[in-house]
Amino acid sequence: MAKRVPEPFRIKMVEPLRVTTREERERALQEAGYNVFLLKAEDVYIDLLTDSGTGAMSDYQWAGLMLGDESYAGSKNYFHLRDVVEDLFGYRYVVPTHQGRGAEQVLFPCLIKKGQYVLGNMHFDTTRAHIMLAGGKPVDLVIEEAFDTSTWHPFKGNFDLNKLENFIKEHGTENIAFILITVTCNSAGGQPVSMENIRAVSEIGRKYGIRVFIDAARFAENAYFIKQREPGYENKPIKEIVREMFSYAEGFTMSAKKDAIVNIGGLLAIKEDEDLFRRVQVNLVPMEGFITYGGLAGRDMEALARGLEEGIQEEYLHYRISQVAYLGDRLMEGGVPIQYPTGGHAVFVDAAKLLPHIPWDQFPGVALSNELYLEAGVRGVEIGSFLMGRDPETGKNLRSPLELLRLTIPRRVYTNDHMDVVADALIAIKERAHTIKGVEIEYEPPVLRHFLARLRPLK
Ligand code: F0G
Repeated sequence: MAKRVPEPFRIKMVEPLRVTTREERERALQEAGYNVFLLKAEDVYIDLLTDSGTGAMSDYQWAGLMLGDESYAGSKNYFHLRDVVEDLFGYRYVVPTHQGRGAEQVLFPCLIKKGQYVLGNMHFDTTRAHIMLAGGKPVDLVIEEAFDTSTWHPFKGNFDLNKLENFIKEHGTENIAFILITVTCNSAGGQPVSMENIRAVSEIGRKYGIRVFIDAARFAENAYFIKQREPGYENKPIKEIVREMFSYAEGFTMSAKKDAIVNIGGLLAIKEDEDLFRRVQVNLVPMEGFITYGGLAGRDMEALARGLEEGIQEEYLHYRISQVAYLGDRLMEGGVPIQYPTGGHAVFVDAAKLLPHIPWDQFPGVALSNELYLEAGVRGVEIGSFLMGRDPETGKNLRSPLELLRLTIPRRVYTNDHMDVVADALIAIKERAHTIKGVEIEYEPPVLRHFLARLRPLK
Protein backbone atom coordinates (compact mmCIF):
# COMPACT_ATOMS: atom_id res chain seq x y z
CA MET A 1 0.00 0.00 0.00
CA ALA A 2 1.17 3.48 -0.86
CA LYS A 3 2.58 5.17 2.23
CA ARG A 4 2.15 8.83 3.10
CA VAL A 5 4.99 10.65 4.82
CA PRO A 6 3.72 13.77 6.60
CA GLU A 7 5.10 17.19 5.69
CA PRO A 8 7.99 18.31 7.95
CA PHE A 9 6.62 21.87 7.88
CA ARG A 10 3.38 23.68 8.51
CA ILE A 11 1.65 26.14 6.22
CA LYS A 12 1.95 29.84 7.04
CA MET A 13 0.69 31.41 3.85
CA VAL A 14 -1.69 30.05 1.23
CA GLU A 15 -2.22 30.71 -2.45
CA PRO A 16 -5.79 30.02 -3.57
CA LEU A 17 -6.32 27.70 -6.52
CA ARG A 18 -9.15 27.99 -8.99
CA VAL A 19 -11.21 24.89 -9.64
CA THR A 20 -12.54 25.01 -13.20
CA THR A 21 -15.38 23.16 -14.90
CA ARG A 22 -14.81 20.65 -17.68
CA GLU A 23 -16.34 23.13 -20.20
CA GLU A 24 -13.90 25.84 -19.09
CA ARG A 25 -11.00 23.45 -19.49
CA GLU A 26 -12.14 22.34 -22.93
CA ARG A 27 -12.23 25.96 -24.04
CA ALA A 28 -8.86 26.77 -22.44
CA LEU A 29 -7.15 23.77 -24.04
CA GLN A 30 -8.56 24.58 -27.46
CA GLU A 31 -7.35 28.17 -27.14
CA ALA A 32 -3.93 26.84 -26.13
CA GLY A 33 -3.70 24.82 -29.36
CA TYR A 34 -3.82 21.56 -27.37
CA ASN A 35 -0.36 22.36 -26.02
CA VAL A 36 -0.33 22.65 -22.23
CA PHE A 37 2.67 25.01 -22.36
CA LEU A 38 0.32 27.61 -23.84
CA LEU A 39 -2.31 27.38 -21.09
CA LYS A 40 -2.73 30.24 -18.67
CA ALA A 41 -1.49 29.02 -15.30
CA GLU A 42 -4.68 30.39 -13.74
CA ASP A 43 -6.65 27.78 -15.67
CA VAL A 44 -4.61 24.98 -14.08
CA TYR A 45 -5.64 23.43 -10.77
CA ILE A 46 -2.60 21.29 -9.95
CA ASP A 47 0.47 22.30 -11.93
CA LEU A 48 2.96 19.48 -12.45
CA LEU A 49 4.57 20.99 -15.55
CA THR A 50 7.93 21.32 -13.82
CA ASP A 51 9.72 21.33 -10.48
CA SER A 52 11.87 24.21 -11.73
CA GLY A 53 11.43 27.49 -9.90
CA THR A 54 8.05 26.31 -8.63
CA GLY A 55 9.06 25.36 -5.08
CA ALA A 56 7.86 27.12 -1.94
CA MET A 57 10.56 29.05 -0.09
CA SER A 58 10.72 28.80 3.69
CA ASP A 59 10.22 31.67 6.13
CA TYR A 60 14.01 31.61 6.61
CA GLN A 61 14.56 32.12 2.88
CA TRP A 62 11.93 34.87 2.70
CA ALA A 63 13.59 36.57 5.65
CA GLY A 64 16.86 36.40 3.71
CA LEU A 65 15.30 38.44 0.91
CA MET A 66 15.09 41.38 3.28
CA LEU A 67 18.84 41.17 3.81
CA GLY A 68 19.63 41.63 0.12
CA ASP A 69 22.72 43.75 -0.47
CA GLU A 70 22.03 45.20 -3.90
CA SER A 71 25.50 46.61 -4.48
CA TYR A 72 26.57 46.16 -8.07
CA ALA A 73 29.94 44.75 -7.06
CA GLY A 74 30.98 42.81 -3.97
CA SER A 75 27.52 42.17 -2.49
CA LYS A 76 27.75 40.51 0.90
CA ASN A 77 25.17 37.93 -0.25
CA TYR A 78 27.61 36.77 -2.93
CA PHE A 79 30.22 36.05 -0.27
CA HIS A 80 27.70 34.19 1.84
CA LEU A 81 26.69 32.13 -1.18
CA ARG A 82 30.31 31.44 -2.05
CA ASP A 83 31.05 30.24 1.49
CA VAL A 84 28.03 27.92 1.51
CA VAL A 85 29.03 26.43 -1.86
CA GLU A 86 32.61 25.95 -0.76
CA ASP A 87 31.53 24.29 2.47
CA LEU A 88 28.99 22.01 0.80
CA PHE A 89 30.77 20.98 -2.38
CA GLY A 90 34.41 21.71 -1.63
CA TYR A 91 34.81 23.94 -4.70
CA ARG A 92 36.79 27.17 -4.52
CA TYR A 93 35.52 29.18 -7.43
CA VAL A 94 31.87 30.17 -7.46
CA VAL A 95 29.96 32.03 -10.13
CA PRO A 96 26.30 32.99 -9.78
CA THR A 97 24.12 32.87 -12.92
CA HIS A 98 20.51 33.70 -13.63
CA GLN A 99 19.61 30.00 -13.95
CA GLY A 100 21.08 26.68 -15.07
CA ARG A 101 21.29 27.52 -18.75
CA GLY A 102 23.14 30.73 -17.86
CA ALA A 103 25.87 28.58 -16.32
CA GLU A 104 25.87 26.37 -19.41
CA GLN A 105 26.22 29.28 -21.81
CA VAL A 106 29.24 30.73 -20.03
CA LEU A 107 31.04 27.44 -19.32
CA PHE A 108 30.55 25.36 -22.47
CA PRO A 109 32.32 27.71 -24.91
CA CYS A 110 35.38 27.52 -22.62
CA LEU A 111 35.47 23.72 -22.89
CA ILE A 112 34.29 22.77 -26.38
CA LYS A 113 36.24 22.98 -29.63
CA LYS A 114 34.08 22.81 -32.73
CA GLY A 115 33.00 19.27 -33.58
CA GLN A 116 33.95 17.72 -30.23
CA TYR A 117 31.63 15.34 -28.40
CA VAL A 118 30.22 15.92 -24.94
CA LEU A 119 29.48 12.60 -23.29
CA GLY A 120 26.63 12.38 -20.80
CA ASN A 121 24.38 9.84 -19.17
CA MET A 122 21.45 11.78 -20.66
CA HIS A 123 21.70 15.49 -21.33
CA PHE A 124 18.77 17.74 -20.49
CA ASP A 125 17.28 19.52 -23.53
CA THR A 126 18.63 23.05 -22.87
CA THR A 127 21.99 21.50 -22.01
CA ARG A 128 21.96 19.67 -25.32
CA ALA A 129 21.10 22.96 -27.05
CA HIS A 130 23.97 24.82 -25.36
CA ILE A 131 26.44 22.06 -26.25
CA MET A 132 25.37 22.43 -29.88
CA LEU A 133 25.47 26.24 -29.76
CA ALA A 134 29.08 25.97 -28.55
CA GLY A 135 29.88 23.75 -31.56
CA GLY A 136 29.77 20.42 -29.70
CA LYS A 137 27.90 17.18 -30.25
CA PRO A 138 25.92 15.79 -27.31
CA VAL A 139 25.96 12.01 -26.80
CA ASP A 140 23.84 10.03 -24.30
CA LEU A 141 25.39 6.89 -22.79
CA VAL A 142 22.95 5.86 -20.07
CA ILE A 143 22.49 2.17 -19.16
CA GLU A 144 19.88 0.23 -21.17
CA GLU A 145 17.83 -0.40 -18.02
CA ALA A 146 16.76 3.26 -18.16
CA PHE A 147 14.57 2.42 -21.14
CA ASP A 148 12.84 -0.52 -19.51
CA THR A 149 10.19 1.24 -17.42
CA SER A 150 8.78 -1.80 -15.65
CA THR A 151 11.95 -3.33 -14.19
CA TRP A 152 13.38 -2.13 -10.91
CA HIS A 153 16.96 -0.91 -10.91
CA PRO A 154 18.37 1.21 -8.07
CA PHE A 155 20.37 3.57 -10.32
CA LYS A 156 18.76 3.88 -13.72
CA GLY A 157 20.65 7.13 -14.29
CA ASN A 158 24.04 5.36 -14.40
CA PHE A 159 26.45 5.63 -17.29
CA ASP A 160 27.01 2.47 -19.26
CA LEU A 161 30.74 2.31 -18.55
CA ASN A 162 31.48 0.01 -21.49
CA LYS A 163 29.68 2.31 -23.88
CA LEU A 164 31.57 5.25 -22.41
CA GLU A 165 35.00 3.69 -22.73
CA ASN A 166 34.28 2.25 -26.19
CA PHE A 167 33.07 5.63 -27.41
CA ILE A 168 36.27 7.28 -26.20
CA LYS A 169 38.47 4.59 -27.82
CA GLU A 170 36.54 4.73 -31.06
CA HIS A 171 36.49 8.51 -31.45
CA GLY A 172 39.78 9.44 -29.79
CA THR A 173 40.31 11.63 -26.73
CA GLU A 174 41.11 14.67 -28.88
CA ASN A 175 37.51 14.59 -30.14
CA ILE A 176 35.94 14.63 -26.71
CA ALA A 177 35.43 17.94 -24.94
CA PHE A 178 34.31 16.68 -21.54
CA ILE A 179 32.04 14.28 -19.69
CA LEU A 180 28.90 15.61 -18.00
CA ILE A 181 27.18 13.57 -15.28
CA THR A 182 23.58 14.68 -14.78
CA VAL A 183 22.34 13.99 -11.24
CA THR A 184 19.63 12.93 -10.99
CA CYS A 185 19.11 11.99 -14.61
CA ASN A 186 16.03 14.07 -15.43
CA SER A 187 15.35 12.72 -18.90
CA ALA A 188 15.40 9.08 -17.73
CA GLY A 189 12.80 9.83 -15.06
CA GLY A 190 14.69 11.65 -12.32
CA GLN A 191 16.74 8.47 -11.87
CA PRO A 192 19.80 8.59 -9.63
CA VAL A 193 23.43 7.86 -10.44
CA SER A 194 25.31 5.72 -7.91
CA MET A 195 28.47 6.84 -6.15
CA GLU A 196 30.23 3.81 -7.61
CA ASN A 197 29.25 4.94 -11.11
CA ILE A 198 30.29 8.55 -10.53
CA ARG A 199 33.64 7.30 -9.23
CA ALA A 200 34.11 4.96 -12.18
CA VAL A 201 33.25 7.69 -14.71
CA SER A 202 35.76 9.94 -13.00
CA GLU A 203 38.41 7.19 -13.21
CA ILE A 204 37.75 6.74 -16.92
CA GLY A 205 38.05 10.51 -17.30
CA ARG A 206 41.39 10.48 -15.52
CA LYS A 207 42.66 7.50 -17.50
CA TYR A 208 42.01 9.25 -20.82
CA GLY A 209 42.69 12.81 -19.69
CA ILE A 210 39.08 13.95 -20.18
CA ARG A 211 37.53 16.41 -17.77
CA VAL A 212 34.44 15.49 -15.77
CA PHE A 213 31.71 17.96 -14.79
CA ILE A 214 28.38 17.52 -13.05
CA ASP A 215 24.99 18.91 -14.03
CA ALA A 216 23.94 19.35 -10.43
CA ALA A 217 20.30 20.47 -10.68
CA ARG A 218 19.04 17.66 -8.42
CA PHE A 219 22.21 16.86 -6.49
CA ALA A 220 20.52 16.53 -3.08
CA GLU A 221 17.86 14.11 -4.31
CA ASN A 222 20.63 12.04 -5.89
CA ALA A 223 22.55 12.00 -2.60
CA TYR A 224 19.42 10.85 -0.77
CA PHE A 225 19.01 7.91 -3.15
CA ILE A 226 22.66 6.95 -2.61
CA LYS A 227 22.02 6.93 1.12
CA GLN A 228 18.89 4.79 0.67
CA ARG A 229 20.17 2.36 -1.92
CA GLU A 230 23.94 2.09 -2.00
CA PRO A 231 25.67 -0.22 0.46
CA GLY A 232 28.11 1.64 2.71
CA TYR A 233 26.26 4.95 2.64
CA GLU A 234 23.27 4.17 4.87
CA ASN A 235 24.77 5.88 7.89
CA LYS A 236 26.50 8.78 6.20
CA PRO A 237 25.07 12.31 6.49
CA ILE A 238 23.74 13.72 3.19
CA LYS A 239 26.34 16.47 3.36
CA GLU A 240 29.17 13.97 3.39
CA ILE A 241 27.65 12.09 0.45
CA VAL A 242 27.35 15.34 -1.51
CA ARG A 243 30.99 16.15 -0.78
CA GLU A 244 32.12 12.78 -2.03
CA MET A 245 29.97 12.98 -5.21
CA PHE A 246 31.51 16.32 -6.13
CA SER A 247 35.04 15.26 -5.23
CA TYR A 248 35.01 13.18 -8.43
CA ALA A 249 34.41 16.15 -10.75
CA GLU A 250 36.22 19.35 -11.69
CA GLY A 251 33.24 21.61 -11.62
CA PHE A 252 29.49 21.84 -11.90
CA THR A 253 26.68 23.77 -13.49
CA MET A 254 23.50 24.00 -11.48
CA SER A 255 19.96 25.11 -12.02
CA ALA A 256 19.29 26.26 -8.46
CA LYS A 257 15.56 26.33 -9.25
CA LYS A 258 15.33 22.67 -8.27
CA ASP A 259 17.10 21.32 -5.20
CA ALA A 260 18.14 24.74 -3.90
CA ILE A 261 14.41 25.62 -3.75
CA VAL A 262 14.50 29.12 -5.20
CA ASN A 263 12.27 30.63 -7.85
CA ILE A 264 15.22 31.88 -9.88
CA GLY A 265 18.97 31.27 -9.80
CA GLY A 266 21.85 29.18 -11.02
CA LEU A 267 25.45 28.41 -10.20
CA LEU A 268 28.69 27.46 -11.81
CA ALA A 269 31.48 26.24 -9.59
CA ILE A 270 35.00 25.06 -10.31
CA LYS A 271 37.05 23.00 -7.91
CA GLU A 272 40.53 24.38 -8.44
CA ASP A 273 41.26 25.32 -12.05
CA GLU A 274 41.93 29.02 -11.69
CA ASP A 275 42.60 29.54 -15.37
CA LEU A 276 39.20 28.12 -16.30
CA PHE A 277 37.58 30.29 -13.63
CA ARG A 278 39.14 33.39 -15.16
CA ARG A 279 37.94 32.45 -18.64
CA VAL A 280 34.45 31.82 -17.31
CA GLN A 281 34.44 35.23 -15.63
CA VAL A 282 35.32 36.86 -18.93
CA ASN A 283 32.25 35.26 -20.54
CA LEU A 284 30.09 35.99 -17.55
CA VAL A 285 30.31 39.75 -17.64
CA PRO A 286 28.74 40.35 -21.07
CA MET A 287 26.29 37.45 -20.86
CA GLU A 288 25.01 37.26 -17.28
CA GLY A 289 26.44 40.18 -15.34
CA PHE A 290 29.31 41.18 -13.09
CA ILE A 291 31.19 38.37 -11.34
CA THR A 292 29.54 38.88 -7.95
CA TYR A 293 25.93 38.82 -9.14
CA GLY A 294 25.78 37.03 -12.51
CA GLY A 295 22.19 37.93 -13.30
CA LEU A 296 20.83 37.68 -9.77
CA ALA A 297 19.74 40.29 -7.29
CA GLY A 298 21.56 40.25 -3.94
CA ARG A 299 18.36 39.03 -2.29
CA ASP A 300 18.13 36.10 -4.75
CA MET A 301 21.67 35.03 -3.84
CA GLU A 302 20.74 35.12 -0.14
CA ALA A 303 17.65 32.96 -0.72
CA LEU A 304 19.79 30.59 -2.76
CA ALA A 305 22.49 30.28 -0.09
CA ARG A 306 19.80 29.45 2.46
CA GLY A 307 17.98 27.11 0.08
CA LEU A 308 21.12 25.05 -0.51
CA GLU A 309 21.30 24.36 3.21
CA GLU A 310 17.62 23.46 3.48
CA GLY A 311 17.67 21.30 0.36
CA ILE A 312 20.07 18.80 1.92
CA GLN A 313 18.14 18.34 5.18
CA GLU A 314 17.40 14.69 5.53
CA GLU A 315 13.90 14.99 6.99
CA TYR A 316 12.90 17.22 4.14
CA LEU A 317 14.42 14.89 1.52
CA HIS A 318 12.68 11.89 3.09
CA TYR A 319 9.31 13.63 2.83
CA ARG A 320 10.08 14.93 -0.65
CA ILE A 321 11.13 11.66 -2.26
CA SER A 322 8.36 9.82 -0.42
CA GLN A 323 5.70 12.14 -1.80
CA VAL A 324 6.84 11.36 -5.34
CA ALA A 325 6.94 7.64 -4.48
CA TYR A 326 3.45 7.88 -2.95
CA LEU A 327 2.00 9.17 -6.21
CA GLY A 328 3.91 6.49 -8.13
CA ASP A 329 2.69 3.71 -5.81
CA ARG A 330 -0.91 4.84 -6.06
CA LEU A 331 -0.69 4.82 -9.85
CA MET A 332 0.88 1.37 -9.93
CA GLU A 333 -1.77 0.03 -7.55
CA GLY A 334 -4.34 1.47 -9.94
CA GLY A 335 -2.75 -0.28 -12.92
CA VAL A 336 -1.21 2.81 -14.53
CA PRO A 337 2.23 1.94 -16.00
CA ILE A 338 5.08 4.18 -14.80
CA GLN A 339 8.87 4.39 -14.91
CA TYR A 340 9.75 2.17 -11.96
CA PRO A 341 11.08 2.90 -9.44
CA THR A 342 9.91 6.51 -9.27
CA GLY A 343 12.64 9.12 -9.45
CA GLY A 344 13.40 12.11 -7.28
CA HIS A 345 11.34 14.89 -8.76
CA ALA A 346 8.66 13.30 -10.88
CA VAL A 347 6.55 10.32 -11.75
CA PHE A 348 6.87 9.40 -15.42
CA VAL A 349 3.78 7.64 -16.79
CA ASP A 350 4.47 5.26 -19.67
CA ALA A 351 2.04 6.67 -22.21
CA ALA A 352 3.06 4.21 -24.93
CA LYS A 353 1.97 1.36 -22.65
CA LEU A 354 -1.22 3.06 -21.46
CA LEU A 355 -2.27 4.09 -24.99
CA PRO A 356 -0.86 1.31 -27.19
CA HIS A 357 -3.35 2.12 -29.96
CA ILE A 358 -1.82 5.59 -30.54
CA PRO A 359 1.24 5.45 -32.86
CA TRP A 360 4.37 7.26 -31.66
CA ASP A 361 4.05 9.99 -34.31
CA GLN A 362 0.56 10.81 -33.04
CA PHE A 363 2.23 11.55 -29.70
CA PRO A 364 0.59 9.39 -26.99
CA GLY A 365 2.29 11.43 -24.24
CA VAL A 366 0.68 14.63 -25.50
CA ALA A 367 -2.72 12.94 -25.86
CA LEU A 368 -2.47 11.73 -22.27
CA SER A 369 -1.34 15.09 -20.95
CA ASN A 370 -4.30 16.80 -22.63
CA GLU A 371 -6.72 14.18 -21.31
CA LEU A 372 -5.41 14.63 -17.77
CA TYR A 373 -5.92 18.36 -18.01
CA LEU A 374 -9.50 17.90 -19.24
CA GLU A 375 -10.23 15.32 -16.56
CA ALA A 376 -8.97 17.16 -13.50
CA GLY A 377 -7.22 20.42 -14.40
CA VAL A 378 -3.84 18.79 -13.81
CA ARG A 379 -0.97 19.89 -16.04
CA GLY A 380 1.82 17.40 -16.76
CA VAL A 381 4.20 17.44 -19.71
CA GLU A 382 5.11 15.06 -22.51
CA ILE A 383 8.66 13.74 -22.62
CA GLY A 384 8.73 11.75 -25.84
CA SER A 385 8.73 12.06 -29.61
CA PHE A 386 6.91 15.41 -29.61
CA LEU A 387 9.73 16.89 -27.51
CA MET A 388 12.39 15.15 -29.65
CA GLY A 389 11.44 17.22 -32.70
CA ARG A 390 12.73 16.52 -36.19
CA ASP A 391 15.98 15.43 -37.76
CA PRO A 392 17.45 18.72 -39.01
CA GLU A 393 18.74 17.00 -42.16
CA THR A 394 15.76 14.89 -43.27
CA GLY A 395 12.98 16.90 -41.61
CA LYS A 396 11.47 13.63 -40.37
CA ASN A 397 10.06 13.24 -36.87
CA LEU A 398 12.59 11.66 -34.53
CA ARG A 399 11.34 8.74 -32.50
CA SER A 400 12.02 8.82 -28.78
CA PRO A 401 12.85 5.50 -27.07
CA LEU A 402 10.11 6.27 -24.53
CA GLU A 403 6.74 8.05 -24.73
CA LEU A 404 6.23 9.52 -21.27
CA LEU A 405 3.99 11.90 -19.40
CA ARG A 406 6.03 13.62 -16.69
CA LEU A 407 4.19 14.55 -13.51
CA THR A 408 6.77 16.84 -11.92
CA ILE A 409 6.22 17.61 -8.26
CA PRO A 410 7.11 21.14 -7.07
CA ARG A 411 8.90 21.18 -3.72
CA ARG A 412 6.88 21.87 -0.54
CA VAL A 413 3.90 23.08 -2.60
CA TYR A 414 1.23 20.41 -2.90
CA THR A 415 -0.07 18.05 -0.23
CA ASN A 416 -0.58 14.32 -0.48
CA ASP A 417 -4.29 15.02 -1.01
CA HIS A 418 -3.34 16.77 -4.23
CA MET A 419 -1.40 13.65 -5.18
CA ASP A 420 -4.62 11.67 -4.69
CA VAL A 421 -6.47 13.96 -7.11
CA VAL A 422 -3.81 13.28 -9.73
CA ALA A 423 -3.80 9.52 -9.13
CA ASP A 424 -7.61 9.25 -9.16
CA ALA A 425 -7.79 11.19 -12.43
CA LEU A 426 -5.21 8.99 -14.19
CA ILE A 427 -6.81 5.80 -12.90
CA ALA A 428 -10.18 7.02 -14.27
CA ILE A 429 -8.52 7.79 -17.61
CA LYS A 430 -6.98 4.33 -17.71
CA GLU A 431 -10.48 2.80 -17.72
CA ARG A 432 -11.35 4.56 -20.96
CA ALA A 433 -7.86 4.70 -22.42
CA HIS A 434 -8.91 2.98 -25.66
CA THR A 435 -11.24 5.90 -26.51
CA ILE A 436 -8.42 8.50 -26.40
CA LYS A 437 -7.19 9.77 -29.76
CA GLY A 438 -3.75 10.98 -30.84
CA VAL A 439 -2.89 14.50 -31.97
CA GLU A 440 -1.48 16.07 -35.12
CA ILE A 441 0.60 19.20 -35.53
CA GLU A 442 -1.04 22.32 -36.94
CA TYR A 443 1.97 24.66 -36.51
CA GLU A 444 5.50 24.09 -35.29
CA PRO A 445 8.58 26.32 -35.03
CA PRO A 446 11.90 25.02 -36.45
CA VAL A 447 13.54 24.30 -33.07
CA LEU A 448 12.33 23.35 -29.57
CA ARG A 449 8.85 22.90 -31.02
CA HIS A 450 7.20 21.54 -27.89
CA PHE A 451 7.11 24.99 -26.28
CA LEU A 452 5.29 26.76 -29.08
CA ALA A 453 3.62 24.24 -31.40
CA ARG A 454 -0.14 24.21 -31.92
CA LEU A 455 -1.87 20.87 -32.27
CA ARG A 456 -5.28 19.38 -32.92
CA PRO A 457 -6.80 16.15 -31.71
CA LEU A 458 -7.32 13.50 -34.40
CA LYS A 459 -10.89 12.46 -35.11
N1 F0G B 1 19.96 20.62 -16.34
C1 F0G B 1 18.93 19.86 -15.94
C2 F0G B 1 19.17 18.44 -15.55
C3 F0G B 1 17.63 20.39 -15.91
O1 F0G B 1 16.62 19.63 -15.53
C4 F0G B 1 17.44 21.75 -16.28
C5 F0G B 1 16.11 22.34 -16.28
C6 F0G B 1 18.55 22.51 -16.68
C7 F0G B 1 19.80 21.90 -16.69
C8 F0G B 1 18.44 23.94 -17.10
O2 F0G B 1 18.23 24.74 -16.00
O3 F0G B 1 15.99 25.75 -16.43
O4 F0G B 1 17.51 26.67 -14.70
O5 F0G B 1 18.03 26.97 -17.08
N2 F0G B 1 15.06 21.66 -16.17
C9 F0G B 1 13.69 22.16 -16.09
C10 F0G B 1 12.72 21.01 -16.19
C11 F0G B 1 13.35 23.31 -16.94
O6 F0G B 1 11.52 21.27 -16.31
O7 F0G B 1 13.13 19.84 -16.11
P1 F0G B 1 17.39 26.11 -16.05
